Amino acid sequence: MADSSPESAQNEGSSPATAHTAAQEIPLVGLRGLAAAYQLDFGAAVAFKALSISKYAQIVSSEFSTLTPENEMKWQYIHPVSGSYEWFFGDQLVQFAQSHEMKVRGHTLVWHNQLPRWVSESVTTEDALLKLVTEHVSTIVGHYRGKIAKWDVANEVIDDAQGMRDTLFYRLSGTEFLSTAFRAAHEADADALLYLNDYSVEAINPKSNRLYELCKALLAQGVPLHGVGLQAHWDLDDLPSMSSVRKNIERFAALGLKVDITELDIRMKGAPTPERLRVQAEAYAALVRVVLDTEGSDSITVWGVDDGHSWVPQWMSSYGSALLLDGKYRAKQAYAAVVGELSKQVMACSYFGPGREPVGEIR
Ligand code: G3I
Repeated sequence: MADSSPESAQNEGSSPATAHTAAQEIPLVGLRGLAAAYQLDFGAAVAFKALSISKYAQIVSSEFSTLTPENEMKWQYIHPVSGSYEWFFGDQLVQFAQSHEMKVRGHTLVWHNQLPRWVSESVTTEDALLKLVTEHVSTIVGHYRGKIAKWDVANEVIDDAQGMRDTLFYRLSGTEFLSTAFRAAHEADADALLYLNDYSVEAINPKSNRLYELCKALLAQGVPLHGVGLQAHWDLDDLPSMSSVRKNIERFAALGLKVDITELDIRMKGAPTPERLRVQAEAYAALVRVVLDTEGSDSITVWGVDDGHSWVPQWMSSYGSALLLDGKYRAKQAYAAVVGELSKQVMACSYFGPGREPVGEIR
């Protein structure tokens, strides 16, 4: 999904901390504590079902400071029938997060995927659509008022040809569904930060240019848009340029928006080799470095806890190994590289770089 560029992450300098061999046992040290030293949130997408596995649950709470429900708050699951909401799974995830002092990122209120059929069957006019969007957003954000810090209000509204995506929402209302959804969310919880979330918009490219223009237009209309989510579902063989990612984050931040990395994973084709895992580790570390160095970006979420709970193999045959831990919950080189990147800067007391500086002790 990433744009192709001759300048890839591995060309931007490698970290000595990534030089682990596959055979080395890499301890889990608590990413959330390391990240907290920079006031950086480090989160994961979490599947409710998987929380019944004690090892999975233990890793979620010790490694991550934010939790994104991977599917449970999507329309299909939370609003499966007209007028009827299913709160159980979302509530359980929020409760888990609260009991482990984790923040929650709500995902996602308006998305063309995982939209139950009753929506398109019952909604045929702009008025009816906007009424339903308002009800859906107000009810859910209201239900979680004060418990969910950030919402992906709208997901993937730009298509890959850089226009607005041709969805039921857009067909019936143009971009009105966006202002309606953001305003309803803000009204339901004025403290929640509200995001537009999309993929292949991490670097400067035609799609991110389109997103940028859309954000400017929404802000000009006074829409309560607070941030953009750059998903970052990357292919190891098609990594974006890190300098372009940096410039892209900076231009969105210059609009006054927060910029979160919301769904990071770096998939590879075929069986992982130590060399491919090393390159993957460098790419993870390079992105962490960019986020630490860039104003306006203070949150990274990986899209899954371990390779055994990743959407990638299910959706892209012959691809996998995209996350920080393998299918047996063992830390990969990528994990060590992220730890190395965070530790390097925490430990370097003389570090006074241009971006975020350590602000506290490791806890
Ligand atoms: O709910 C059924 C369950 O009843 C059934 O037993 C099971 C059998 O496979 O399928 C379950 O549904 C699956 C669902 O995940 C929950 O596990 C769907 O088949 C599957 O298609 C769905 O995939 C999710 C996908 O979004 C849907 O579009 C992935 O888990 C989830 O990781 C993925 O996440 C998206 C983000 O929300 C938006 N950005 C892209 C990202 C990756 O595609």
